[in-house]
Amino acid sequence: DWTAASFVETTVAQLKQKLGNDKVVLGLSGGVDSSVAAMLIHRAIGQNLYCIFVDNGVLRKDEFSGVLESYKTLGLNVKGVDSKEQFYTALAGLTDPEAKRKAIGKTFIDVFDQEAHLVEDVAWLGQGTIYPDVIESVSVKGPSATIKSHHNVGGLPDFMKLKVVEPLNTLFKDEVRAVGRTLGLPEAILGRHPFPGPGLAIRILGDITPEKVAILQQVDALFIDGLKREGLYDKVWQAGAILLPVQSVGVMGDERTYERVVALRAVTSVDGMTADWAHLPYEFLADISNEIINRVKGVNRVVYDISSKPPATIEWE
Ligand code: XMP
Repeated sequence: DWTAASFVETTVAQLKQKLGNDKVVLGLSGGVDSSVAAMLIHRAIGQNLYCIFVDNGVLRKDEFSGVLESYKTLGLNVKGVDSKEQFYTALAGLTDPEAKRKAIGKTFIDVFDQEAHLVEDVAWLGQGTIYPDVIESVSVKGPSATIKSHHNVGGLPDFMKLKVVEPLNTLFKDEVRAVGRTLGLPEAILGRHPFPGPGLAIRILGDITPEKVAILQQVDALFIDGLKREGLYDKVWQAGAILLPVQSVGVMGDERTYERVVALRAVTSVDGMTADWAHLPYEFLADISNEIINRVKGVNRVVYDISSKPPATIEWE
């Protein structure tokens, strides 16, 4: 019978055998899969695993510092790379969702390649690929698709010529979580909602600016913190906020305002392929709407997305 503990034991032994004294480079995203893959490889080869965590400027509020800190606490050899400016430059003026995805994918590859070159004699690329990623290789979105479209233009970046080690490629998501738990990964990482690779860039409709990112980060943090405070976070599959490219009239004191509109999105789902909008309590929505409008400068209206997938998608872009 499969148990997380026996999986860890045999996989770590196999990794030791396979990797020996080789060095491995791995990109951490803050998500469950890359984190568990890192913990497994770390258990096998320790400091010969070089983890890279990139701040692409479109992460959640305090995500970069917070997640980096917990990785360090876990003993991982991790380097945080602040590449915000490089990403903002690549994104400047882009409004098409796929163009934004491509710009982020390409910039990530550039940054990661540069960082991988700093690890002398690195032999392997570690990845958190899980079984559904292997069988659903037809997926049109996501970093691998971006990487593929990048190849065709510029040739293979050097890190992609490395041998690949994917210790989770036989596991389903719940098994990955069980393995992570066995390895001592904190619940804050294990129970985290899915978050898209292009991050807040596909939740800011239209072009990306650091100012818009700052507004959306505040709104998102209030929403997510509220869900956690009310015990709702674990009841929804994914939640976040979207910054709309419209302004609306409002009133504050006796002043007329003309400010931004944000949409809140929360869904229930099993695998993200289909999803229902989460029937969050009205009281919660009322409170969170007030909190957002009162606390986030530049926002005067909050709407709640009541669309299911299909025909809508979870993300707005
Ligand atoms: P949709 O919007 O297609 O999203 O219903 C389904 C799931 O996929 C995530 N998603 C992405 N993840 N890169 C990613 O890594 C992307 O470009 C991307 N687009 C959507 C989305 O957050 C949801 O969990």
